[in-house]
Amino acid sequence: MKSRQSRRTFLAVSGVWTASALLPRVGRAADANSKLRVASIGTGGKGADDLRQVAASDRVEVVALCNVEQNKDHFGWAVEKFPKAAQFRDWRKLLDDSKSFDAVIVSTPDHMHAPISLPAMELGKHVYCQKPLTHTVHEARQMQAAARKAKVVTQMGNQIQSHKFYRTAVKLVQDGTIGKVREVHSWQSGKLSWMKVDDRPVGSDPVPMSLDWDGWLGVAPERPYKSEIYAPFNWRAWQDFSSGQLGDFGCHILDPVFKALDLTAPMTIVAEAPEINKEVWTKWCKVSYLFPGTSYTANRGMPVTWYDGEGRMPSAEQIGLPKSVKLPGAGSVLLGEKGSLIIPHVGMPTLVGEQVEGKTIEFASELNHYTGWAHACLGDGATGSNFDYSAPLTATVLLGVIALRLPGESLTWNDADGVVSNSAKANTLLSKPYRKGWEPKWV
Ligand SMILES: NC(=O)c1ccc[n+]([C@@H]2O[C@H](COP(=O)([O-])OP(=O)(O)OC[C@H]3O[C@@H](n4cnc5c(N)ncnc54)[C@H](O)[C@@H]3O)[C@@H](O)[C@H]2O)c1
Repeated sequence: MKSRQSRRTFLAVSGVWTASALLPRVGRAADANSKLRVASIGTGGKGADDLRQVAASDRVEVVALCNVEQNKDHFGWAVEKFPKAAQFRDWRKLLDDSKSFDAVIVSTPDHMHAPISLPAMELGKHVYCQKPLTHTVHEARQMQAAARKAKVVTQMGNQIQSHKFYRTAVKLVQDGTIGKVREVHSWQSGKLSWMKVDDRPVGSDPVPMSLDWDGWLGVAPERPYKSEIYAPFNWRAWQDFSSGQLGDFGCHILDPVFKALDLTAPMTIVAEAPEINKEVWTKWCKVSYLFPGTSYTANRGMPVTWYDGEGRMPSAEQIGLPKSVKLPGAGSVLLGEKGSLIIPHVGMPTLVGEQVEGKTIEFASELNHYTGWAHACLGDGATGSNFDYSAPLTATVLLGVIALRLPGESLTWNDADGVVSNSAKANTLLSKPYRKGWEPKWV
């Protein structure tokens, strides 16, 4: 086994080897016996799945585990499964031990994605980070820039991108099966299971012994602990930690649309939504984006409309499909010049329209989103949801989240400068204040 020093030197040198400045810095592919040393931050909830899936590769060694919640469900299971891994409660201490790992999985709630991933990339670590990539548009742009600068291998955790269903949908569109696309409608009409209350509850509950609540809050403003209101999972309701239903599902459901049509940044965004308070997200929204056209679109402007909220989705007739067409509870419809494509979240895409119905659909191959990333870190292959792709996708989703705070205002987005050119209020929402003592140095 190599010494830590020689591993580090190898990684550093490999950055120089790469031919293009934009190629990721890949490590140790030349040494077939080297393993990728992975640290996991946020080992519970989806993080448990992320860790198991990445560790399924025999080319991965799990060397560090970190969680602010150290009960059995969130941490103990991982300690049992990976007994040799170093244990941390504070991710900053894990990053201080930077010689001991090559790559990090960040599966915390959304508000901590960028504060953890950015310094990790600065240390030259490869990053697998959950979706949505960030909590603000500014953070998304920083993540893309940092990944390029550090030349590390990155992947956002929108794993359905690698599934054969989404890959088949992308292929169908790009093969021209439905012709050039005129219009897209995407929705998530499911229940907001995490919306337990409408406003901040009074009082506080005792913090469980196993939880570092201050560490869980991280960069977010201080607030008293309340059992089952924030952690685990229900943080999705709260503006300080998440971006609501659009933030939760946009990076999944809009992903095959973005990928298939080769979309970049929207030009305008306008939303309908009920009044919002200072704490929780709204229970529904409708966001209309207009993107620049691409080689896959029929017109110079490409409209994409997002709907969320329990039971909120367009009917088949409303979007110009026959009444008999059954739409899924979550997914997208792409209306093309030759026919339409329904992409369920998550299901087999179907073709609608005389010219395309009954066509045999050939499945695209399936990739492994998790081990695909790990192997790309070792120089083998590439990632589809690298931050050059997933940061603009996340920024698009989060621009929709800004629009839903300002219903009825048509926002004009200048992507080159990273500003909303016609709304001072919207510009204040591109970033956010960070808690004193937790201010990231990159702000
Ligand atoms: N890709 C998917 O299909 C999918 C599915 C579910 C969740 N997610 C994403 O995964 C992330 C986590 O969501 P979840 O539902 O698992 O939430 P969760 O609250 O159930 O789990 C988060 C885990 O992170 C830990 N944690 C919180 N702050 C931490 C910190 N500062 N340092 C270390 N550990 C910390 C928590 O203790 C917990 O174990 C979110 O970004 C979410 O959007 C993705």
